[in-house]
This record gives sequence, structure tokens and C-alpha cells, in this order.
Amino acid sequence: MVKLGVNVDHIAAARQARLGFLPDPVYFALLAERCGANGITAHLREDRRHIQDEDVRRLRKKIKTKLNLEMAITRAMVQFACATKVDDVCLVPEKRQELTTEGGLDVAGQRVKIKSAIDTLKKSGIYTSIFVAPDLKQIVAAHAAGADCVELHTGTYADAKSSEERKREFKKLLLAGRCARDLGLILNAGHGLDYKNVGPVAKIAGMNELNIGYSIVLRSLEVGFENAVKEMKKLI
Ligand code: PXP
Repeated sequence: MVKLGVNVDHIAAARQARLGFLPDPVYFALLAERCGANGITAHLREDRRHIQDEDVRRLRKKIKTKLNLEMAITRAMVQFACATKVDDVCLVPEKRQELTTEGGLDVAGQRVKIKSAIDTLKKSGIYTSIFVAPDLKQIVAAHAAGADCVELHTGTYADAKSSEERKREFKKLLLAGRCARDLGLILNAGHGLDYKNVGPVAKIAGMNELNIGYSIVLRSLEVGFENAVKEMKKLI
């Protein structure tokens, strides 16, 4: 069974638009769990544009599945993850100006820094993942840095403008998946996955978990959040 991790960033983004209390990402995380989500994902960005520190602490206390914290590799974030005792950390690149996480992490280019963050996280019992482009060099580097898992960035596949481009991008995901499995890494994927493009990605051999946020929130405007999660769960 491929697991569904529901990303609640976009719920927090709606709340931050008015700087109020609603909608509450913790409330929707609990609802997602009741509708079959196997885990909850939140990205605590350095600019705190959506998820806030207190959201992560509240998620930690309330959810019953597992909490996957997406974060940049900074000393402060590593300390926060260890102190909050999240289950999983997914290391992601972060740029202030970007609308969303644009690419995978350049693991090959910053191996020492990443290895040191992973060592610290692992000492706190945190399961570590790295968000990477479907690029064999980065997957080999993620393995060398000691990560338990890679999350393949599916954004380029999702944004493909033609079926040829999509096929090409999907092939990269297949090869990257095989490389990760051969190295003994757990295989996750996410970014830009929706109800139309998720099927083939869910079928990649050895796929463990898909982390999905935006399309579920969009779909919930039409069918309600509970149905949106259930439909995605059924599809994957
Ligand atoms: N996985 C990672 C590492 C991400 O950065 C994001 C976006 O926050 C997602 C999954 C979810 O992407 P989307 O919101 O497009 O489903």
C-alpha cells in the first residue's frame, strides 16, 4: 500500500492571509487522518509564511499518525526538529522569493553540511529524508550522507506541457526510483501531484509514500475536505 501524507501548509496559508485563527491546520490534519491519511506533513519555512512553530508543536501533540517536518538545513531548524520530537524530517532547499519549493536539494554540493544535520537528527531518533530531483547523482549523494529516504521531486513531471515531456520526466522518476531502491533507500515522492497525474507515480515499484497538499485543498473547495482526502487515498 502506498501511504498518503497530507501537507497542511496551504491551510495555514489561508489563515495567515488574515492573520487570524482559522482555518486551523491542526483541525484539518485530524480530519485528514480520519479520512485515511497515513501521515501529516508541514513545512516550517524560515519566513514563517504559512506554518508557525506553534502549529508544529500542536500537530505533534494531537495527531495520531506521524508528523513529517519539511525544513531547510539550518542549525535553528535542526534544533527545533529535535526539541519538538517530530517523527520524520525532510530536508528541502529554501529560497525566500520562491512561491513554493522549486527544486530538489543539491546534496552532492553540500554533503558535509547535510551529513552533519542528518547525524544530529538521527541521534534524536528522527527518520531522515531528502527532497531531491530525479537525478542519480543526487540520490547517490543522499545515500552517502546517511539519509534513510529520498523524496523525489515530481514538480517537473507534474508541470510537463506535453505528453512527450511528461513521458520523459516520468522515465526519470522510474530510473531514480530504481536507483534509490537499489541503494536501500526508502522511496517517497511529492510536489504538484493531483488527481490526474498521481496514478503512474503511485505505481512506481517500491513507492512508499506520496506527500500531497495543494491539489487536495483545491479539490476540497468543490467536494469538501473529507471527500478530497478520501478520493486521493482511493486513487493512490
Ligand atoms: N513534498 C515537498 C518536499 C514539498 O516541499 C511540497 C510542497 O510544500 C510537497 C511535497 C507538496 O506539494 P503540493 O502542495 O504541490 O502537493
